[in-house]
Amino acid sequence: MNLFDVYPVNDIIIVKAKGSYVWDDKGEQYLDLYGGHAVISIGHTHPHWVKRIEEQLHQIAFYSNSVRIPLQQQLAEKLGKISGKTDYQLFLCNSGAEANENALKLASFHNGRKKVIAFSKSFHGRTSLAVAATDNRNYAAPVNETDHVIFLPFNDENALTECFRQHGQEISSVIIEGIQGVGGINVADETFLRLIRSLCDEHGSVYIADSIQCGYGRSGKFFSHDFAGVNADIYTMAKGMGNGFPVAGIIIAPQIKPKHFQLGTTFGGNHLACAAALAVLEIIEEEKLMGNAVMMGKYLKDELENIPGIKNIRGRGLMIGFDVPAEMKDLKKNLLLNQKVFTGEAKPNVIRLLPSLALKKRDAEQFIDSIKEEIQNIVTPVS
Ligand SMILES: Cc1ncc(COP(=O)(O)O)c(C=O)c1O
Repeated sequence: MNLFDVYPVNDIIIVKAKGSYVWDDKGEQYLDLYGGHAVISIGHTHPHWVKRIEEQLHQIAFYSNSVRIPLQQQLAEKLGKISGKTDYQLFLCNSGAEANENALKLASFHNGRKKVIAFSKSFHGRTSLAVAATDNRNYAAPVNETDHVIFLPFNDENALTECFRQHGQEISSVIIEGIQGVGGINVADETFLRLIRSLCDEHGSVYIADSIQCGYGRSGKFFSHDFAGVNADIYTMAKGMGNGFPVAGIIIAPQIKPKHFQLGTTFGGNHLACAAALAVLEIIEEEKLMGNAVMMGKYLKDELENIPGIKNIRGRGLMIGFDVPAEMKDLKKNLLLNQKVFTGEAKPNVIRLLPSLALKKRDAEQFIDSIKEEIQNIVTPVS
């Protein structure tokens, strides 16, 4: 049997990882400024994370949600404390798309409405309604087509106000990334998020904060939406939550009440996933990783600002993007091949940095040296 060939892959086999480094099967070391797509929050194979999963594995790995799983309650409490959303309720699932799917569905259960507002360049996942709310028609099959989703320009306050004026009573939810990831690192304006809050309040709609990529401390605050100083009704989380162990969830404001059987999943909130997620939160707290994200993010942005050629450096904390001019279109590839540095990208010309929140200063310095050298090589090629 062959693999279903949907991923264009780099021809590299990674066999080992530690902190912000990975190694291939030939022993070559790579600096990881990509974090496996923003997933590695506390650093690869963090010893506390390994130990917690290992210990749990010896106890019990899985039992279904038909029994009480105290680890879920522990996770909810810890998450409430770290995020500051102590009165929210936690529902656990397995992936980002599933989290958004549940959030959109729950909003619709809550207010009985069908319309969803999403924004240009949004990415919310590959499943039915999540992909319908994603601004990329290439990802949606005919079966995903729906007239329930209204797309508006990102950060356009007039368009949002006008849409609510016309359709306010039909809007079930507004879904927005605090910082768009796949769309190219575009930060939602604080005034725009506050406007979403007030329009949702006025019209009985649900504000869904997609925090799958920009959440879990990556921006320097637990949720990047927190910069606006207002609460969303539902936050969706995945990537950094398990540091690579598949776990996701949504937290739900107290006014949205649960009903038995409304949501459900077989694997969501299993013992192993909870142990991994607890280990991540313990390390984020103990090693003050949100503070580190702020410091390292500032260092990287300041240094990048001084590099001629690259433009429009943006983002928050350790979610950084910048534009690469046409003559440097191979920069990302060259960083990987020549400098052994993984970075992310967004089409057509954006490099994305999504490293572990535990990135060390010397690793950040190494990245800056590498990118300077590669740009130099492009500008004056070595013969
Ligand atoms: C903002 C955002 N939402 C949702 C998703 C979907 O997450 P998953 O791939 O875990 O389904 C992603 C994944 O990149 C994302 O960046």
